[in-house]
Formats: sequence, structure tokens, C-alpha cells
Amino acid sequence: MPEFPDIPRHVAIIMDGNGRWAKERGLPRREGHRAGAESVREITDTCIELGVEYLTLYAFSSENWNRPEAEVKALMALLDRFLAEKAKDLKRQNIRLLAIGQLDRLPEKTRKLLAKIMAETAGHTAMTLVLALSYGAREEIVGAARGLATEAAAGSLDPSAIDAGIFASRLQTAGIPDPDLLVRTSGEMRVSNFLLWQISYAEIVIVRKFWPDFRRNDFIEAVQEYQRRHRRFGAL
Ligand code: IPE
Ligand code: IPE
Ligand code: MG
Repeated sequence: MPEFPDIPRHVAIIMDGNGRWAKERGLPRREGHRAGAESVREITDTCIELGVEYLTLYAFSSENWNRPEAEVKALMALLDRFLAEKAKDLKRQNIRLLAIGQLDRLPEKTRKLLAKIMAETAGHTAMTLVLALSYGAREEIVGAARGLATEAAAGSLDPSAIDAGIFASRLQTAGIPDPDLLVRTSGEMRVSNFLLWQISYAEIVIVRKFWPDFRRNDFIEAVQEYQRRHRRFGAL
């Protein structure tokens, strides 16, 4: 959008506060997740409108498996429904879908749906939507380290050749630029095991609203806040 010259290329969002949003209304937590899915649709559309190239959404963390089984089931069912409904829009809007996280822990139905949509949208160029599912940054980093150690032990990699670039190329986000802007809703000031490597120089914007209340204007305000920041990357 021309009125915004300095659009972050990659925005990552910790979508938090669905449960509290529902509690405030005397509703079950799953209703908060359902309302949160509406925000996902609106924010994806807004990213397309503004020209954001990559949107990464923290939808389910590796720690979220520790929630009560009923909530986990409700979240997986919602994810299935979101994917099935969103597939058409992704084609219409020319959006490529990617997923990061321990995807083998997801139900088979969800994995198949994801694989199908990722294959169908692989050539799309308007935006990349990255869903972090069963995602934990520590697990991702450990996985990269394990892969490098295995190659070094096998003699196919010289340990002294490992640098930050090689390490990043072994993360699940290989090929995706680091986030410029990290947004967390619900006012919590923590990163909860999200993209620990990749957010090294991201600008962090904490929004007090719960995720289901976070809509187009809130996203634009977060981008404007980002635009007021002076990124230095350690230099002057
Ligand atoms: C975010 O909302 C969605 C997920 C983590 C899956 P929460 O479910 O964490 O809602 P709160 O933070 O308990 O309000
Ligand atoms: C982070 O939110 C994970 C997602 C948004 C998917 P949580 O609600 O799980 O994180 P904590 O428990 O507040 O750190
Ligand atoms: Mg939460």
C-alpha cells in the first residue's frame, strides 16, 4: 500500500489470549479459538493488502500438547476446518502455505490436509503464510544441531566450517528471511519458545488486546509502531 513505504517483509505473530477472551464473555475456551480463527483470516487479508511477504503465525506450541485433551482436540478440529475452508482463498489470493514444527505429532488427517494444500500452493507468489504447529524453537535448534553433529561425525562436514549461515540453513525456516516485526497479543511480555534464533533483531510490539479482538486496524497500528522504530542491528 503506497501510504506505507516501510512495510516489514516478514511479520511473526504470537496469537495469544483466546481463552481469556472467551472467559470474559462466559464462553468455553474453544469459542475463543473459533473467534481467533476469524482474526487469522482478517490479518492474512491485511498482509496481502499491505504487501507483507511473509506472515508466520504461532498457532500451536510444542508445550500446548500439555493442555487438557478436550482443548487439544478442539484446536485440532478447528485447524482442520480452517485449512479446509482456507484452501480456496489461498488459491484465489495466490498465497503459498508452509508449516514449521514437529508436524509428525499432528493427527494424520491434519498432516494429510496440510501436505495437500502445501503441494497445491507451492508455486504461489503473492505471500507466504507460515503456520507454526506443534512448534518449539528449542526443539528446532536441537534438531539442527543434531543434523550437523551427525554429518560431522560421519566425516561429511568439517565442524570448523559451521557458521551462522550454515546453522540457519538447517532450521525449518531455511530460505525464509528473519522476522522484521514480532507481535504478541494479550499483553504478555514473553516469547514462549517461538523462533528464538530468528527473532534476534526483530522489533517487538506487544498489544494488550486478546487475539480474537486483534483486527485490521490493530495490525496497521503495529506496523506503524514498527515504522517509528530505528533499527540499528548493533551499529550506529
Ligand atoms: C492462544 O490463546 C491460542 C493457543 C495458544 C493455542 P490461549 O489459548 O493461550 O489463550 P489464553 O492465553 O489462555 O487466554
Ligand atoms: C504461546 O501462547 C503459543 C501460541 C500462541 C500458540 P501460550 O499461551 O501457550 O504461552 P504461555 O503459556 O502464555 O507462555
Ligand atoms: Mg495463552
